Amino acid sequence: MERSCHLTVKLRIRYPYCICRGTVFRELHKLYVVHACKEYLENWPQLVKYCGYREDNIPQLQDVNVFLKRKTGFQLRPVAGYLSPRDFLSGLAFRVFHCTQYIRHSSDPFYTPEPDCCHELLGHMPLLANPSFAQFSQELGLASLGATDEDVEKLATLYFFTVEFGLCKQDGQLRVYGAGLLSSVAELRHAVTATQKTKKFDPEVTCREECIITAFQNAYYYTDSFEEAKDKMRQAYRKGEGETRCRHVAYSYRIASRRSPGLTSSSDERITINSDICLIFICTAERFGI
Ligand SMILES: [Fe+2]
Repeated sequence: MERSCHLTVKLRIRYPYCICRGTVFRELHKLYVVHACKEYLENWPQLVKYCGYREDNIPQLQDVNVFLKRKTGFQLRPVAGYLSPRDFLSGLAFRVFHCTQYIRHSSDPFYTPEPDCCHELLGHMPLLANPSFAQFSQELGLASLGATDEDVEKLATLYFFTVEFGLCKQDGQLRVYGAGLLSSVAELRHAVTATQKTKKFDPEVTCREECIITAFQNAYYYTDSFEEAKDKMRQAYRKGEGETRCRHVAYSYRIASRRSPGLTSSSDERITINSDICLIFICTAERFGI
């Protein structure tokens, strides 16, 4: 489905001159070569070529949007700041990523209390262009649909310590895939040297970790591979999924649910409730203009 012209206009804006952009880009790029995971680095040349990733330019969301749609079917929606965990995660279920367009204050190029366009463009976009990572992000979103508030909080925490602050081992080295680290010079340096804070990722434990947004994290979680993070997450949220499975048809932007065989009578009520969730899917889809 094609996006409306209205959306196209909102995704292309004139950024004010900001001395931050070159400084942040330059310093982070030096760190990426050493610390970023290979899935991140693979997409970098294409972002330079097709989306204007360079020191003297802030890429337009419109260009990144076209690129992402072609690569993984993900679409961008500009927002003014934080969304609730439920709203943000439900967007991921439809391969919709909500991102900001403002840039941090030039008085401190290496710090922003809220996610800005440096965080979104440098931290998230290279991995959202990776099919495996895009699938991982979407599955987190799908798990949130119809979930209780308590489960959404757990999913949001797991998202935080994987997609935002996750590390994985590659070629015997710890590499970073978390966007919160890949967009912060200071915390990226801190995370890869603070070995006493690095712990093995375990969804049951990690979901109880405190998410800190105004200082460095108390802990960073790693897996032995990027695939291991996906597998552990799947095992964790499928435990609570019950008898109904959801899947997303990525390129037609449709959510489908189906009943598993062998249901018992006691699960009928749950299915009735879950059939109402189909209405939530439809309402959510309409809300995102899908
Ligand atoms: Fe983020």
